[in-house]
Amino acid sequence: MNYALNPSRFFVCSAQEMCNNEIRQVKPPGLNSVAVYRVKDAFYATDDTCSHGHASLSEGEVDENYVVECPWHSGTFDIRTGKALTFPCVQPVKIYPVIVEDGGVYVELSESQTRFPEPRERK
Ligand code: FES
Repeated sequence: MNYALNPSRFFVCSAQEMCNNEIRQVKPPGLNSVAVYRVKDAFYATDDTCSHGHASLSEGEVDENYVVECPWHSGTFDIRTGKALTFPCVQPVKIYPVIVEDGGVYVELSESQTRFPEPRERK
């Protein structure tokens, strides 16, 4: 199945195009950006925007323990659950299903999943 047949499924790339511990930012048309990760040959996806500020998690680093570190203030998240692991991050980020089919990597999205309320204020 492809994006044209299933508008909630967004094509990211070929699985071969991503290495382990790589993060790729995808921008589905009209939706917020998503960070897609490859760790230990499995794929995961979260909101790209950090829950602490407006940093892009896809500009951070992910390790073999499924932890992504935000590039701005070094807060961390578990990419499997979205749970915030270290301060200053306390709010989780959303996670999204990732499907690998016929060698392609797809993220399952819907508009309601990726729309944020107004930008969060930093305290
Ligand atoms: S913006 Fe991500 S830790 Fe502050």
